Amino acid sequence: MGRATSRRRSSCDAGQRRYAHERDGHRGQRRDRGPSIPPPDRLAAHANVGPDVYDEASADRLAFWATQARRLTWTQEWDEVLDWSNPPFAQWFVGGKLNVAYNCVDRHVEDGHGDQVAYHWEGEPGDTRTITYAQLKDEVCKAANALTELDVNAGDRVAIYLPMIPETIIAMLACARIGAVHMVVFGGFSADALASRLDDAGAVLVITSDGGYRRGAPSALKPAVDDAVGRSPGVRNVLVVKRTGQDVEWTEGRDLWWDDVVGRQSTEHEPESFDAEHPLYIMYTSGTTAKPKGILHTSGGYLTQVAYTHWATFDLKPDDDVFWTAADVGWVTGHSYIVYGPLANRATSVMYEGTPETPHRGRWFELIQKYGVTILYTAPTVIRTFMKWGEDIPAGFDLSSLRLLGSVGEPINPEAWLWYHEHVGGGRCPIMDTWWQTETGAHMLTPLPGVTSLVPGSAQHPFPGISAKVVDDEGKELSDDSTGLLVLTEPWPAMLRTIWGDDDRYVDTYWSRFGKNVYFAGDGAKKDADGNIWLLGRVDDVMNVSGHRISTTEVESSLVGHPAVAEAAVVGASDPTTGQGIVAFVILRGNAEDSGDELVQELRTHVGKDIGPIAKPRQIMVVQELPKTRSGKIMRRLLRDIAENRELGDVTTLTDSSVMNMIKDKLPAAPSED
Ligand code: PRX
Repeated sequence: MGRATSRRRSSCDAGQRRYAHERDGHRGQRRDRGPSIPPPDRLAAHANVGPDVYDEASADRLAFWATQARRLTWTQEWDEVLDWSNPPFAQWFVGGKLNVAYNCVDRHVEDGHGDQVAYHWEGEPGDTRTITYAQLKDEVCKAANALTELDVNAGDRVAIYLPMIPETIIAMLACARIGAVHMVVFGGFSADALASRLDDAGAVLVITSDGGYRRGAPSALKPAVDDAVGRSPGVRNVLVVKRTGQDVEWTEGRDLWWDDVVGRQSTEHEPESFDAEHPLYIMYTSGTTAKPKGILHTSGGYLTQVAYTHWATFDLKPDDDVFWTAADVGWVTGHSYIVYGPLANRATSVMYEGTPETPHRGRWFELIQKYGVTILYTAPTVIRTFMKWGEDIPAGFDLSSLRLLGSVGEPINPEAWLWYHEHVGGGRCPIMDTWWQTETGAHMLTPLPGVTSLVPGSAQHPFPGISAKVVDDEGKELSDDSTGLLVLTEPWPAMLRTIWGDDDRYVDTYWSRFGKNVYFAGDGAKKDADGNIWLLGRVDDVMNVSGHRISTTEVESSLVGHPAVAEAAVVGASDPTTGQGIVAFVILRGNAEDSGDELVQELRTHVGKDIGPIAKPRQIMVVQELPKTRSGKIMRRLLRDIAENRELGDVTTLTDSSVMNMIKDKLPAAPSED
C-alpha cells in the first residue's frame, strides 16, 4: 500500500487553514460567503471547455445544444432542435434518428478502439472482469438477439432487477439497441415494490439473477422476482443470470438461464435507427405520495445531455482517464454516469459490486489505487461516512492518480467538501458538486473544471445551456443574497418527458405551481451575494420555526462543523407554539466522548452561535446509525415520525430497519425552551 506524500498533505493543510481563517471572519455566514478556490492553472489550460462556453450557450441556446448533439452519430439529422409548442410536453431533435447502443458501443469499435477497456469490473468477493469495447459490442449484440428471440419488440418494457454486474449494463444496452424500454429496479427493493413497478410499466420480461454479493454474503434476488411475477400476468419470461450459484426455484416454460439463451446467439446484430423521441427507459422515483412515479426518458436529447455533461463537468479525456461513478446502476446516477454518458464518450470506467466497508473500510481507496482511478464521483453521505471512519484510512493508500472529484445526491456541507478535497483529493482535485434529479436526467447546476472558482458547499451555476432561477412563492425571481425556490425556466434536452401513463400527474407535479413553462424542482435554494446557488434541500425539508425559514441542511451543516460530530440529520417536528421545532439526530466522531446533557447543550449553543438562536435544535439525540435508503439517502420522513411520536411509516426501503428501533428507544423528552 502506498502512503500519501507529505507534499500532498501540506498543500491541503494550507487550504484548510485558509478556509478556517475566512470562516471565522464571516461568522454565521460561512455557507454563503465561503472563500472561492481558483481553478488550478494546469487544469484551466487543458480543460475540455473554456470560460467562453457560457456566452456561447446563452447567445443561442438551441444552436449550442445542436452542436452538442452532433457529438453523437445520427442516421438522420433533425428538422427542428426543440418543439415546445405544447408545453410542458417537449420534443427535442424532432425528426432525428439514431441508435443509442450504437452510439455507446459500435462506433468506438468502428473507430479502432475495440481493445480499449470499457469497464474494469470488480465483484465484492474480489473476482474481476475486464470488458473491452469490442467484447461489450459482442455481448450486447448477443443479448439483443436473445431479446428478439423472446419476442421482445421495440416499445415493450423490460424490467431489469440485477446486482452491479456487467450483465446489467449489457441488458440495458440490448434493450436500447432493439428499442425496448428498460426499467431498472434497484436490487434492494422488495417483491412488493417490484410488483407494483412491473404492473405500472406493463413489463413483458424480467431479467434477474440468482443473487449478488453484499456485505460479505450472497443475497438472493430470484425469490422476490418469483413473488412479484406471480402477481404480474403480463410477464412472459424471466431471464436469470447465474452470479452466486445458489439454488433457485424454477418455473418451467417461464424461467430461462441467461447463459443458455444469450450464450447461443450470434454476435452479429444490425442496429435499427429510432426516433430521437423514442422512449429509452423508465426510472421509478418516490414522490410525496405512496405511489412511485415512473419517470420517462427518451433517446436523442437524453444521450446528448448526459454525454456532453459527462465530458464537460468531469473534463473527461477518453484516452487517459479512469472514471468511477461509485453509485448503483439502479439509480439515475448510475444510468447517466456509469452507463450512458461514459460509454457515449468512450470512457474507461470502474464498476464495483459491493459496499464501501466490505471486506474492510479501505475498499474504495484500494480500488482507486488498483485501477489508477482519475475521476471519482460519489455522494456526500459516503464522504461523511469516510469522515467518521477517519482520515487514516485514505492516507493508507496511494490516491495520487485522482485529478477530479464529483459529488451528487444531497447538499454537501462545506466541512465534508473540505475533507473530501483534502483527504481524498490530496488538496489538488477540484470538486464538482452536481445538482440534478432523476427527472432532469443529467447535470443541471455545477461548477466547471478549469473554468469556475470553487465555493465549497455550493453547486454554484446552471450548466451552460440550462436556465435556472431562484424565485419566491409567487414565482418572482429573487435578487442575489436571497432564499427561495429553485425553478428551471427553459426546457432542456435530458428532461423527463412525462410520468409513465400519467400525463396529468406530470403536469401537476412539475409544471403547475408557476405555470406550464416553469419546472418546479421541489428544492429550496439560496443565491449568495456573488450569484452562487446553494441548495437547501427539498422544500418539504425547509422548516418554519416561528415564521423563520430554516433549512434542515443548514442546521446539519452547522452540527457537522462541530469537532465532535461526524454526521447529522435534522427534521422539523410540529410544535404547538412555534409551528415547527428542530430535532437533530447526530452520530459522534470515533474519538468524541458522549458526555450526555453537557454535549447536547454544547451542540445547541454551537448551532445558536453559528446560525442564530432561532436555529438551536429543540432536541438533539446522539445515535449510532441513521436510517438510510439503500441508495444512501437519510430517511428524514422516518426521523420526523419519531420526533413527532407517530407510528413509523413504511420502512421497506431502509438498509437496516433495526436502526429505527435503536433510535426510538433513545428519544429523550423535549427540553424546556431557553
Ligand atoms: O434535493 C435534491 C437532491 O436530490 C434530489 C434528486 O434526487 P434523485 O432524483 O434521487 O436524484 C439524485 C441523483 C441526481 C434533488 O431534488 N440533490 C441531488 N444532487 C444534489 C442535491 N441537493 C444538493 N446538491 C446536490 N448536488
